[in-house]
Formats: sequence, C-alpha cells, structure tokens
Amino acid sequence: MTDPDRDGAVPPILVLLAHPYPGRSRACDALVRALAPLERTEVRSLYDRYPDFDVDPRAEQAALEAAQLVVWLAPMHWYGVPGLLKHWFDVVLVKGWAYGEGGTALAGKDCLWAVTTGGDEAAFSGKGRHGLPFEAFVPPLERTARFCGMGWLEPHVLHGAHRVDDEALVRSGEALRARLLAWRQGRGA
Ligand SMILES: Cc1cc2nc3c(=O)[nH]c(=O)nc-3n(C[C@H](O)[C@H](O)[C@H](O)COP(=O)(O)O)c2cc1C
Repeated sequence: MTDPDRDGAVPPILVLLAHPYPGRSRACDALVRALAPLERTEVRSLYDRYPDFDVDPRAEQAALEAAQLVVWLAPMHWYGVPGLLKHWFDVVLVKGWAYGEGGTALAGKDCLWAVTTGGDEAAFSGKGRHGLPFEAFVPPLERTARFCGMGWLEPHVLHGAHRVDDEALVRSGEALRARLLAWRQGRGA
C-alpha cells in the first residue's frame, strides 16, 4: 500500500470530479479551477475516464490509497450524487478493502463533499421548493464515508449554481481552496 505521507509534510488530496458534462459545467468547473494551484492535489474526472461506466476498481483504489483527503466534487442530482459516482461507490468501496474484515484501506483518511445545487438556499427549507434543509440530504454520503472509516468534514455547498454571478463562483472556489489548505495545516503541513 502507498504511504501518503512518505515524501514530506504535505498530505495528498484526491478530488473525484463527477460531472457528466465537464465541458459544460460552470459551477463545478469554477471549483475545480480554484483548486489548480494546490500542490499534491490530483483531480480525476470520472466521466472522462469512464464514459461507459466501466470503472476500474483497482486503479481507483490505488488513487485512494495514495490520498489523505478525498473530495467528492459533483453537482447535486436528484438529491444525491450523479449516477457514475454512485456506481463508483458500488464497485470501488468493496468489502474486504473498504469495510468488513480486513477492509481498512480508507481508515483514518478524511472525506469532503463539494456539491453544487440548482436550488438556492431558500429552496432548501421547509417551505422551499425542495421541502427540506440541505442537511437532510447529507446522511447517505456521510454514512458511506464513515462506514469506510473515514473522517467526515462539513460539506462545501454552492447553492443556486445557475443564478449566482461569476464573482460568487470565484468566492466559493476560494473558500473551498482555503478549507483544503486549513485542513492541510491541521494535518501538519
Ligand atoms: C439530472 C439532474 C438532477 C438534478 N437534481 C437536482 C436536485 O435534486 N437539487 C438541486 O438543487 N439541483 C438539481 N439539479 C441541478 C444541478 O445541481 C445543477 O445544474 C448543477 O449544480 C450546476 O452545476 P454545473 O454548472 O457545474 O453544471 C439537477 C440537475 C440535473 C441535470
């Protein structure tokens, strides 16, 4: 297994981008661009790698083993993640590797969900279009990470992705980058 901290004090970050049309993304793309200056940070675009959903579990597991923080970066689709990321969970996070007997590969790593939503903040409330606060949609992802022994960080949420202006997109990207840097400092970088 790869030792993520083998060559220094900068813990590696793996960003799993799950946007079905990365070339047409505005909000997720702004977040990805904001992360470009970060050292030891790999962005893997799952839909570019696996357009036919033919995910390579071993390649994905190797990428995860090399990371100390895993970021799931995706638009919200039907109150969860896009289909390929859900499929990625199913075939990569398997028993004996991610959980169950001998399944400790992810234990001690951290996980963060960076999500863009079409709904704005008001839509995610009891009286809003989505009927529930955003936090109501977090547990399936949080439990997935925790089931695999990962620590769970507060999600980074960019609401109203269709309506926010370019400045707000930049600010959200900067806030995400700042959080990853702060996480690194907390890890001793
Ligand atoms: C299939 C599909 C399902 C969606 N489901 C939701 C949803 O449940 N809640 C929501 O707020 N937005 C939803 N949206 C809107 C997307 O989250 C929004 O288009 C995306 O965050 C914009 O980011 P982008 O500019 O990177 O594409 C959905 C969009 C699509 C295409």
